[in-house]
Amino acid sequence: MIKKGIILAGGKGTRMSPLTKAVNKQLLPLYDKPLIFYPLSVLMLAGIKKILIIVNKGQLNQFKKVLPENNNLGLSIEYKEQTRPGGLPQAFTIGEKFIGKDSVSLILGDNFFYGQSLTKILKKNINLKSGAKIMVHPVKTPSLYGVATLNKNHKVLSLVEKPKKTNSNLAVTGLYFFDNDVIKFTKKLRPSKRGELEIVDLLNLYRKKNKLKAEFIGRGGTWLDTGNVNNFYDASNFISTIENRQGLKIACLEEIAFKNNWISKNDLKNAINFYGNCNYSKYLKSLINA
Ligand code: TTP
Repeated sequence: MIKKGIILAGGKGTRMSPLTKAVNKQLLPLYDKPLIFYPLSVLMLAGIKKILIIVNKGQLNQFKKVLPENNNLGLSIEYKEQTRPGGLPQAFTIGEKFIGKDSVSLILGDNFFYGQSLTKILKKNINLKSGAKIMVHPVKTPSLYGVATLNKNHKVLSLVEKPKKTNSNLAVTGLYFFDNDVIKFTKKLRPSKRGELEIVDLLNLYRKKNKLKAEFIGRGGTWLDTGNVNNFYDASNFISTIENRQGLKIACLEEIAFKNNWISKNDLKNAINFYGNCNYSKYLKSLINA
Protein backbone atom coordinates (compact mmCIF):
# COMPACT_ATOMS: atom_id res chain seq x y z
CA MET A 1 0.00 0.00 0.00
CA ILE A 2 1.44 3.39 -0.99
CA LYS A 3 1.25 5.84 1.90
CA LYS A 4 3.65 8.52 0.72
CA GLY A 5 3.38 11.06 -2.07
CA ILE A 6 5.71 13.61 -3.63
CA ILE A 7 4.56 16.78 -5.36
CA LEU A 8 7.12 18.26 -7.73
CA ALA A 9 6.38 21.94 -7.50
CA GLY A 10 9.56 23.55 -8.80
CA GLY A 11 10.36 23.98 -12.46
CA LYS A 12 11.28 26.97 -14.57
CA GLY A 13 7.78 27.82 -15.74
CA THR A 14 9.34 29.31 -18.88
CA ARG A 15 6.20 28.95 -20.97
CA MET A 16 4.23 31.03 -18.48
CA SER A 17 6.77 33.84 -18.21
CA PRO A 18 6.47 36.72 -17.26
CA LEU A 19 3.75 35.40 -14.90
CA THR A 20 6.27 33.04 -13.36
CA LYS A 21 9.13 35.51 -12.97
CA ALA A 22 8.29 36.39 -9.37
CA VAL A 23 5.79 33.68 -8.44
CA ASN A 24 6.15 29.94 -8.93
CA LYS A 25 3.61 28.47 -11.37
CA GLN A 26 2.18 26.20 -8.69
CA LEU A 27 1.22 29.22 -6.58
CA LEU A 28 -0.66 30.98 -9.38
CA PRO A 29 -4.46 30.97 -9.09
CA LEU A 30 -6.20 28.21 -10.95
CA TYR A 31 -9.62 29.84 -10.63
CA ASP A 32 -10.11 30.15 -6.85
CA LYS A 33 -7.17 28.21 -5.43
CA PRO A 34 -3.41 28.05 -5.89
CA LEU A 35 -2.59 25.48 -8.56
CA ILE A 36 -0.82 23.23 -6.06
CA PHE A 37 -4.13 22.50 -4.26
CA TYR A 38 -5.25 20.38 -7.21
CA PRO A 39 -2.41 17.83 -7.30
CA LEU A 40 -2.39 17.76 -3.51
CA SER A 41 -6.11 16.97 -3.55
CA VAL A 42 -5.40 14.00 -5.83
CA LEU A 43 -2.94 12.50 -3.36
CA MET A 44 -5.42 13.11 -0.55
CA LEU A 45 -8.22 11.42 -2.49
CA ALA A 46 -5.91 8.44 -2.88
CA GLY A 47 -5.70 8.36 0.93
CA ILE A 48 -2.10 9.56 1.11
CA LYS A 49 -1.29 11.63 4.20
CA LYS A 50 2.51 11.80 4.12
CA ILE A 51 3.49 14.42 1.60
CA LEU A 52 6.81 15.78 0.39
CA ILE A 53 6.63 19.00 -1.60
CA ILE A 54 9.71 19.80 -3.68
CA VAL A 55 10.11 23.48 -4.50
CA ASN A 56 12.72 25.67 -6.14
CA LYS A 57 15.52 27.01 -4.03
CA GLY A 58 14.46 30.26 -2.40
CA GLN A 59 10.70 29.66 -2.73
CA LEU A 60 10.09 27.70 0.46
CA ASN A 61 8.56 30.52 2.46
CA GLN A 62 5.98 31.35 -0.17
CA PHE A 63 4.74 27.75 -0.25
CA LYS A 64 4.70 27.46 3.53
CA LYS A 65 2.41 30.50 3.75
CA VAL A 66 -0.36 28.64 2.00
CA LEU A 67 0.52 25.05 2.97
CA PRO A 68 2.27 25.19 6.35
CA GLU A 69 3.90 22.08 7.79
CA ASN A 70 1.65 22.64 10.79
CA ASN A 71 -1.64 22.53 8.87
CA ASN A 72 -5.34 21.95 9.47
CA LEU A 73 -5.50 19.15 6.93
CA GLY A 74 -4.42 16.17 8.98
CA LEU A 75 -1.40 15.85 6.72
CA SER A 76 2.28 15.45 7.41
CA ILE A 77 3.84 17.93 4.99
CA GLU A 78 7.59 18.11 4.47
CA TYR A 79 9.49 20.38 2.12
CA LYS A 80 12.72 20.01 0.20
CA GLU A 81 14.40 22.37 -2.19
CA GLN A 82 15.59 21.52 -5.68
CA THR A 83 18.73 23.48 -6.45
CA ARG A 84 18.21 23.37 -10.21
CA PRO A 85 15.33 21.87 -12.23
CA GLY A 86 17.31 18.83 -13.37
CA GLY A 87 14.36 16.70 -14.41
CA LEU A 88 11.43 14.87 -12.88
CA PRO A 89 13.33 11.79 -11.59
CA GLN A 90 15.30 14.07 -9.26
CA ALA A 91 12.21 13.80 -7.05
CA PHE A 92 13.49 10.40 -5.97
CA THR A 93 17.02 11.43 -5.08
CA ILE A 94 15.87 14.61 -3.35
CA GLY A 95 13.17 12.53 -1.67
CA GLU A 96 15.33 9.50 -0.88
CA LYS A 97 15.20 10.00 2.87
CA PHE A 98 11.48 10.76 2.80
CA ILE A 99 10.77 7.57 0.81
CA GLY A 100 12.94 5.37 3.02
CA LYS A 101 12.11 1.73 2.32
CA ASP A 102 8.58 2.44 1.09
CA SER A 103 6.86 2.76 -2.24
CA VAL A 104 5.78 6.20 -3.36
CA SER A 105 3.50 8.16 -5.65
CA LEU A 106 4.67 11.18 -7.65
CA ILE A 107 2.43 13.90 -9.01
CA LEU A 108 3.59 16.89 -11.01
CA GLY A 109 2.58 20.16 -9.42
CA ASP A 110 0.88 21.44 -12.56
CA ASN A 111 -1.36 18.46 -13.35
CA PHE A 112 -5.15 18.66 -12.98
CA PHE A 113 -7.30 15.54 -12.64
CA TYR A 114 -11.04 15.41 -12.16
CA GLY A 115 -13.93 13.12 -12.80
CA GLN A 116 -16.13 10.21 -12.04
CA SER A 117 -14.45 7.19 -10.47
CA LEU A 118 -11.18 9.08 -9.95
CA THR A 119 -11.07 8.25 -6.24
CA LYS A 120 -11.83 4.59 -6.97
CA ILE A 121 -9.03 4.39 -9.53
CA LEU A 122 -6.58 6.14 -7.19
CA LYS A 123 -7.39 3.77 -4.34
CA LYS A 124 -6.77 0.85 -6.66
CA ASN A 125 -3.39 2.22 -7.72
CA ILE A 126 -2.06 2.72 -4.21
CA ASN A 127 -2.38 -1.03 -3.74
CA LEU A 128 0.67 -1.43 -5.96
CA LYS A 129 2.77 -4.35 -4.69
CA SER A 130 5.77 -4.10 -7.01
CA GLY A 131 6.82 -2.39 -10.22
CA ALA A 132 5.44 0.91 -11.43
CA LYS A 133 2.19 2.25 -12.72
CA ILE A 134 1.37 5.19 -14.95
CA MET A 135 -1.98 6.82 -15.68
CA VAL A 136 -2.81 7.34 -19.33
CA HIS A 137 -5.45 9.42 -21.06
CA PRO A 138 -6.31 9.99 -24.73
CA VAL A 139 -5.28 13.32 -26.24
CA LYS A 140 -5.82 14.91 -29.63
CA THR A 141 -2.16 15.84 -30.07
CA PRO A 142 -0.02 12.96 -28.75
CA SER A 143 3.15 14.46 -30.24
CA LEU A 144 3.24 16.93 -27.33
CA TYR A 145 3.43 14.22 -24.67
CA GLY A 146 5.06 10.99 -23.58
CA VAL A 147 3.03 8.38 -25.45
CA ALA A 148 2.37 4.77 -24.41
CA THR A 149 1.22 1.69 -26.28
CA LEU A 150 -0.35 -1.05 -24.20
CA ASN A 151 -1.37 -4.67 -24.55
CA LYS A 152 -4.82 -5.76 -23.47
CA ASN A 153 -3.68 -6.41 -19.91
CA HIS A 154 -2.56 -2.79 -19.70
CA LYS A 155 1.08 -3.76 -19.73
CA VAL A 156 3.15 -0.99 -21.31
CA LEU A 157 4.77 -2.18 -24.53
CA SER A 158 6.40 1.05 -25.59
CA LEU A 159 6.92 4.50 -24.25
CA VAL A 160 8.19 7.37 -26.36
CA GLU A 161 8.66 11.02 -25.48
CA LYS A 162 6.99 13.45 -27.90
CA PRO A 163 6.90 11.09 -30.93
CA LYS A 164 6.60 12.75 -34.35
CA LYS A 165 4.55 9.77 -35.56
CA THR A 166 2.62 7.32 -33.41
CA ASN A 167 -0.36 4.97 -33.62
CA SER A 168 -1.31 5.61 -30.02
CA ASN A 169 -3.23 8.59 -28.65
CA LEU A 170 -2.50 7.66 -25.02
CA ALA A 171 -0.54 10.35 -23.24
CA VAL A 172 1.33 9.59 -20.04
CA THR A 173 -0.08 11.89 -17.37
CA GLY A 174 1.85 13.40 -14.49
CA LEU A 175 0.76 10.90 -11.86
CA TYR A 176 2.93 7.86 -11.17
CA PHE A 177 3.15 5.03 -8.65
CA PHE A 178 6.46 3.35 -7.90
CA ASP A 179 7.87 0.60 -5.72
CA ASN A 180 11.06 1.26 -3.76
CA ASP A 181 13.30 0.31 -6.71
CA VAL A 182 12.63 3.79 -8.02
CA ILE A 183 15.53 5.14 -5.98
CA LYS A 184 17.94 2.51 -7.32
CA PHE A 185 16.74 2.99 -10.91
CA THR A 186 16.95 6.78 -10.70
CA LYS A 187 20.60 6.51 -9.72
CA LYS A 188 21.28 4.63 -12.96
CA LEU A 189 19.91 7.46 -15.11
CA ARG A 190 22.12 9.84 -17.03
CA PRO A 191 21.05 13.29 -18.28
CA SER A 192 19.54 13.43 -21.76
CA LYS A 193 20.66 15.75 -24.56
CA ARG A 194 18.73 18.59 -22.95
CA GLY A 195 20.73 18.05 -19.75
CA GLU A 196 17.91 16.63 -17.61
CA LEU A 197 17.06 13.25 -16.13
CA GLU A 198 14.04 11.99 -18.06
CA ILE A 199 11.00 10.31 -16.52
CA VAL A 200 10.53 8.30 -19.72
CA ASP A 201 14.01 6.79 -19.24
CA LEU A 202 13.10 5.85 -15.68
CA LEU A 203 9.80 4.29 -16.75
CA ASN A 204 11.56 2.41 -19.53
CA LEU A 205 13.84 0.75 -16.95
CA TYR A 206 10.68 -0.65 -15.35
CA ARG A 207 9.20 -1.54 -18.74
CA LYS A 208 12.26 -3.51 -19.78
CA LYS A 209 11.82 -5.62 -16.66
CA ASN A 210 8.14 -6.17 -17.56
CA LYS A 211 7.19 -4.18 -14.51
CA LEU A 212 5.33 -1.22 -15.96
CA LYS A 213 1.57 -1.12 -16.11
CA ALA A 214 -0.90 1.56 -17.06
CA GLU A 215 -4.30 2.55 -15.77
CA PHE A 216 -6.94 4.50 -17.65
CA ILE A 217 -8.57 7.53 -16.10
CA GLY A 218 -11.54 6.69 -18.30
CA ARG A 219 -13.70 8.71 -20.61
CA GLY A 220 -15.66 10.22 -17.73
CA GLY A 221 -12.46 11.65 -16.33
CA THR A 222 -10.57 14.79 -17.19
CA TRP A 223 -6.85 15.43 -17.26
CA LEU A 224 -5.79 18.96 -18.08
CA ASP A 225 -2.48 20.54 -18.74
CA THR A 226 -1.70 23.88 -17.15
CA GLY A 227 1.75 24.40 -18.67
CA ASN A 228 1.05 27.40 -20.88
CA VAL A 229 -1.11 30.47 -20.50
CA ASN A 230 -3.93 29.26 -22.74
CA ASN A 231 -4.41 25.88 -21.16
CA PHE A 232 -3.97 27.44 -17.73
CA TYR A 233 -6.98 29.68 -18.39
CA ASP A 234 -8.92 26.85 -20.03
CA ALA A 235 -8.47 24.79 -16.87
CA SER A 236 -9.47 27.80 -14.77
CA ASN A 237 -12.68 28.19 -16.77
CA PHE A 238 -13.42 24.49 -16.51
CA ILE A 239 -13.23 24.69 -12.71
CA SER A 240 -15.28 27.87 -12.56
CA THR A 241 -17.99 26.34 -14.76
CA ILE A 242 -18.31 23.21 -12.64
CA GLU A 243 -18.05 24.90 -9.25
CA ASN A 244 -20.56 27.61 -10.05
CA ARG A 245 -23.02 25.19 -11.59
CA GLN A 246 -22.93 22.63 -8.79
CA GLY A 247 -22.03 24.72 -5.78
CA LEU A 248 -19.40 22.10 -4.95
CA LYS A 249 -15.71 22.86 -4.94
CA ILE A 250 -13.03 20.94 -6.76
CA ALA A 251 -9.90 20.39 -4.66
CA CYS A 252 -11.16 21.90 -1.40
CA LEU A 253 -8.45 20.29 0.72
CA GLU A 254 -10.25 20.63 4.06
CA GLU A 255 -13.40 19.05 2.61
CA ILE A 256 -11.44 16.00 1.48
CA ALA A 257 -9.65 15.74 4.83
CA PHE A 258 -12.96 16.09 6.69
CA LYS A 259 -14.67 13.43 4.58
CA ASN A 260 -11.66 11.14 5.09
CA ASN A 261 -12.16 11.63 8.85
CA TRP A 262 -8.66 13.11 9.15
CA ILE A 263 -9.88 16.36 10.70
CA SER A 264 -12.69 17.53 12.96
CA LYS A 265 -15.16 20.41 12.79
CA ASN A 266 -12.80 22.26 15.06
CA ASP A 267 -10.02 21.96 12.46
CA LEU A 268 -12.46 23.37 9.90
CA LYS A 269 -12.99 26.35 12.20
CA ASN A 270 -9.22 26.83 12.46
CA ALA A 271 -8.99 26.68 8.69
CA ILE A 272 -11.65 29.39 8.40
CA ASN A 273 -9.57 31.59 10.71
CA PHE A 274 -6.48 30.82 8.66
CA TYR A 275 -8.03 31.85 5.33
CA GLY A 276 -10.08 34.76 6.69
CA ASN A 277 -13.30 36.14 5.27
CA CYS A 278 -13.55 34.76 1.73
CA ASN A 279 -15.74 32.48 -0.35
CA TYR A 280 -13.49 29.52 0.38
CA SER A 281 -14.14 30.03 4.11
CA LYS A 282 -17.89 30.36 3.46
CA TYR A 283 -17.73 26.99 1.76
CA LEU A 284 -15.93 25.51 4.77
CA LYS A 285 -18.62 26.97 7.03
CA SER A 286 -21.27 25.20 4.98
CA LEU A 287 -19.46 21.90 5.67
CA ILE A 288 -19.63 22.52 9.42
CA ASN A 289 -23.34 23.24 9.22
CA ALA A 290 -24.21 20.36 6.90
P1 TTP B 1 7.67 21.06 -17.00
O1 TTP B 1 6.36 21.31 -17.63
O2 TTP B 1 8.60 20.12 -17.63
O3 TTP B 1 8.46 22.41 -16.79
P2 TTP B 1 8.07 23.78 -16.12
O4 TTP B 1 6.87 23.70 -15.24
O5 TTP B 1 9.30 24.30 -15.50
O6 TTP B 1 7.62 24.72 -17.31
P3 TTP B 1 8.37 25.17 -18.66
O7 TTP B 1 8.48 23.95 -19.51
O8 TTP B 1 7.40 26.19 -19.19
O9 TTP B 1 9.69 25.78 -18.29
O10 TTP B 1 7.44 20.54 -15.52
C1 TTP B 1 6.36 19.78 -15.12
C2 TTP B 1 6.12 19.98 -13.63
O11 TTP B 1 7.20 19.47 -12.87
C3 TTP B 1 5.95 21.41 -13.19
O12 TTP B 1 4.94 21.43 -12.22
C4 TTP B 1 7.29 21.79 -12.60
C5 TTP B 1 7.81 20.48 -12.08
N1 TTP B 1 9.28 20.30 -12.22
C6 TTP B 1 10.07 20.36 -11.10
O13 TTP B 1 9.59 20.62 -9.99
N2 TTP B 1 11.41 20.13 -11.22
C7 TTP B 1 11.99 19.82 -12.42
O14 TTP B 1 13.21 19.58 -12.45
C8 TTP B 1 11.15 19.79 -13.58
C9 TTP B 1 11.75 19.49 -14.92
C10 TTP B 1 9.82 20.03 -13.42
